[in-house]
Amino acid sequence: MLLLPLLPLSLAWTDDSVKCTSSEPCAPIASLTPSDLPDRSTYTVYTTSQSGARLEKVGAIPFEASDNGGWQKITLDASTTYQEVLGFGGALTDAASITVAKMTDDVQEMILRDYYTGDGLEYTVGRVPIASTDFSTGVYSYDETPEDFTLENFSIDVDKSEVSGNKLGFVQRVLKMTTSPLSLFASPWAPPAWMTQTNSTTGNPSLRDEEEVRSAWALYFSKFFAAYREEGVEFWGVTVQNEPAGNTGAWQDLKMSDAEQRDFIKNNLGPQLRADEPDLKIMMLDDQRTHLPSWADTILGDEEAAQYVDGIGLHWYAEVADYFAWATQPFAKMSKVNDKYPGKFMLATEACNGFIPVIDQGPKLGDWNRAERYGFDILSDLNAFAVGWTDWNIALDLSGGPNWAKNVVDAPILADTDATDTYYRNPMYYYLGHFSKFVRPGSKRIQVTSTGNLISAAMEATGFVTPDGKVVLVVLNRDFAGHKYNVEVEGRGFVNVDVDGHSIQTIIFDQ
Ligand SMILES: *[C@@H]1O[C@H](CO)[C@@H](O)[C@H](O)[C@H]1NC(C)=O
Ligand SMILES: *[C@@H]1O[C@H](CO)[C@@H](O)[C@H](O)[C@H]1NC(C)=O
Repeated sequence: MLLLPLLPLSLAWTDDSVKCTSSEPCAPIASLTPSDLPDRSTYTVYTTSQSGARLEKVGAIPFEASDNGGWQKITLDASTTYQEVLGFGGALTDAASITVAKMTDDVQEMILRDYYTGDGLEYTVGRVPIASTDFSTGVYSYDETPEDFTLENFSIDVDKSEVSGNKLGFVQRVLKMTTSPLSLFASPWAPPAWMTQTNSTTGNPSLRDEEEVRSAWALYFSKFFAAYREEGVEFWGVTVQNEPAGNTGAWQDLKMSDAEQRDFIKNNLGPQLRADEPDLKIMMLDDQRTHLPSWADTILGDEEAAQYVDGIGLHWYAEVADYFAWATQPFAKMSKVNDKYPGKFMLATEACNGFIPVIDQGPKLGDWNRAERYGFDILSDLNAFAVGWTDWNIALDLSGGPNWAKNVVDAPILADTDATDTYYRNPMYYYLGHFSKFVRPGSKRIQVTSTGNLISAAMEATGFVTPDGKVVLVVLNRDFAGHKYNVEVEGRGFVNVDVDGHSIQTIIFDQ
């Protein structure tokens, strides 16, 4: 890759989206079949490129005896293993539910198949907001009765109504059709307004500084999981608070300092959830990577709080690393936190494109740069010990909503809610699939080394061994130029590849 700075924003872009309708459906994403890997002398490659490939599979290619002379060299050591993978997925928001529900029955089914079945990305992770977010049609909570500290009036009925786009029904539908078990985690944006100091959930409020309120807020989580369980929805995890360090103030939040979150976990939420939901994974932070390592030190450095914390949730928004190729420090911070707190996992819990007000807000149909940023962030997070990656809304309308706070963004699938038989797969959709479909839960990251030379920086690469004994490599070419590269596999020979510019590949072979 030439050492050119990447354009920080997609100022100009071409529409590389793929249009899908019920009469002209998009191609299913081909799964790996036994004939793709007839024996250990062969490998399979999936390619997505701006030049036209979309998770295009070429199977049963023989390893070669010598390399192709390319400058880009990748080597691997599958006996050196690192973190175990949880999985990949996206958020089942009100906005996604509302958008999908507006489409024809056929298209609704197609969009969900694109994510949750063998014809699609085979997602294994899902995030569910606890009550409303900005990607709702308005603000609501599960208990609007002031001073109801025992939460007598707690109810998730709103999640069965039009107000939330019947979010519960949407989650149940996804769980029914998914061909891979989903690890679901939940995140609150804000408590009921009466629990806040300002009687409002916008403008970055704090929780009322009263023990009665803190314990009511912890009880609220517990009631949420019990109510969803009654509806057949089991959760794997929870984040303590979405973006506790605050947002612009225009939409809901509950601001907490690192010390406040530590104390809330230690004194309220931790004991409450360990008693009521002993298997639930509790994640701290759920905010920008820029807060590492300070939040980890404050919370995980406190033994009493740390005993309740299983992992750290991370968002990508405040970092420039995803915009400038040379800024890799944030990922280095993750590796340091992993070294310092080895028992705690890190999970990317939210990311999207099109979030920068005025200059880069909303969807850009078919923008390749945004897909490449996904690829770079996912790959870099994984190489810095993340156990998985969670996209924001799985689907939105063409305006990047609905969003009551006008905080519209992009999504891998955009649905035309006027022409309700048409939706679009953005390039981001395919980049996500290069990881989610092949790097299965329980996979372990292995040592992968990528080298270039003086005029050609190394292409980014990561690798895994899956529970069923396959080696999966993902190789990203962010350069505008094509490259010849090769992968040396000890005892087998070489994978020789000649790839176009702006492309991503997944290479699979038996271990
Ligand atoms: C809360 O619950 C009580 C007792 O069930 C009921 O009388 C009251 O009307 C409820 N209040 C609201 C606001 O729903
Ligand atoms: C909080 O706001 C609600 C709705 O605006 C209002 O009905 C209630 O009286 C307020 N409570 C306090 C304590 O100000």
